[in-house]
Amino acid sequence: MTPVTYRCHNHERGHAATIAEAATAIDLPGPNTDPSDWMNHKNINNHNKSITKRDDLAINGAEPAFGDPLHVGRPNIGNRELFLQYTEQILDSRWLTNNGPVVRELEEKIAEYHNVTQCVAMCSGTIALEIAIRALKLAGEVVVPSYTYIATAHALHWQGIRPVFADIDPKTHNLDPAAVRRALSDKTTGIIGVHLWGRTAAVEALQAIATEHQLKLIFDAAHAFGCSHQGTKVGAFGDCEVLSFHATKFFHTFEGGAVLTNDARLAEKMRLMRNFGFAGVDNVIYPGTNGKMTEISAAMGVSNLQAIEKVVKHNHQIHEAYRQALTDISGLKLLEFNQSESNNYQYAVVEISEDCPISRDRIVEVLHAENILARRYFWPGCHNMKPYRDLYPEANQSLPFTEQVSERVIVLPTGPCMDRASVNTVASVLQVLLDDAAVDQPSV
Ligand SMILES: Cc1ncc(COP(=O)(O)O)c(C=O)c1O
Repeated sequence: MTPVTYRCHNHERGHAATIAEAATAIDLPGPNTDPSDWMNHKNINNHNKSITKRDDLAINGAEPAFGDPLHVGRPNIGNRELFLQYTEQILDSRWLTNNGPVVRELEEKIAEYHNVTQCVAMCSGTIALEIAIRALKLAGEVVVPSYTYIATAHALHWQGIRPVFADIDPKTHNLDPAAVRRALSDKTTGIIGVHLWGRTAAVEALQAIATEHQLKLIFDAAHAFGCSHQGTKVGAFGDCEVLSFHATKFFHTFEGGAVLTNDARLAEKMRLMRNFGFAGVDNVIYPGTNGKMTEISAAMGVSNLQAIEKVVKHNHQIHEAYRQALTDISGLKLLEFNQSESNNYQYAVVEISEDCPISRDRIVEVLHAENILARRYFWPGCHNMKPYRDLYPEANQSLPFTEQVSERVIVLPTGPCMDRASVNTVASVLQVLLDDAAVDQPSV
């Protein structure tokens, strides 16, 4: 049988790799030709280079450790065969969008997965946030973290609401409830907490503030698909929670998002809002927008959901491999997940310590030279991005931990491109780099 050839999604730099090549040197699910298996498209390549000394590093003239780039958030393709079956059905039926059967099936499955009664699928996480914000009648000021993806702030600003940035707890990277209290004013109508990296925010403390001040509470759960807080899956907290299904998320629908809630009336309002306010043919009862998810997106969602346990298991193994490989490297700390909760392990987040002998940006540069496309995440913080820096130039004064953390975080590649050997190679690059930098440091 001729091996099937898959290509890396990065067309500029991708090489072809056969399934047989792809499955070498991996202690995770091995060679397979099953087109329904999510691992079959992975593009593992030459990561067997040994890196033990400074001359082995690409910045010093050696070959890069990886021939193909390793990405943070390279899209997963769940059950490809199932996706293609759904695609045929969708094309045959000519029902391409407008609350079709596949969208409804996906909504039902996601609601069930998160143990909530309502899932309202949308065309993106950002539109889902905007619709949730409108449906809850937020106005004036809303307290949000600055240490988040820019969409959290934009979703407010886009609707004429001021995002008031509150600082994070440097240990959790999530909103610090005490900072939220300090950010309240008589114009505050709500709080948006973010479950950053899939680690849930201080749910009870934020709810207590919201209740005390009669504020609405939304959670941006874009990172937290399937994650739990004290044993309860996200979706049920606050007034509602918002997921993103962007292609780079471990669960995706190409583009997409959803609002989860147990509030049926709120969900109904959002269903109207995502479809221009149509309550029936020729009957618009609400001002709305176009927030609908397409059928083909939903088909990708159903196919990804089918593979989700395998994806999470793989991410968990990769996270554990990073934990073991990075343990002895002083200057770096891998963010841990609470093992008694459900986690999706989609992010491998490393924080450099204050006394790290080399800057975060230099580490990222060195990794990129090896084709390890690690990323600075949420740097420099929303408040330092031009629109908000221009509007609120004083915001940084109340955000010392946001600034500190955003200067220290590196997110490492995860997902199907990674196996234990490639994790070890990433770690050996870091080890050699940091050892070298420590030696070069002038002794005090
Ligand atoms: C924390 C957070 N909020 C909101 C969004 C926006 O979601 P989307 O890209 O689906 O619009 C993202 C997406 O990356 C995100 O990471």
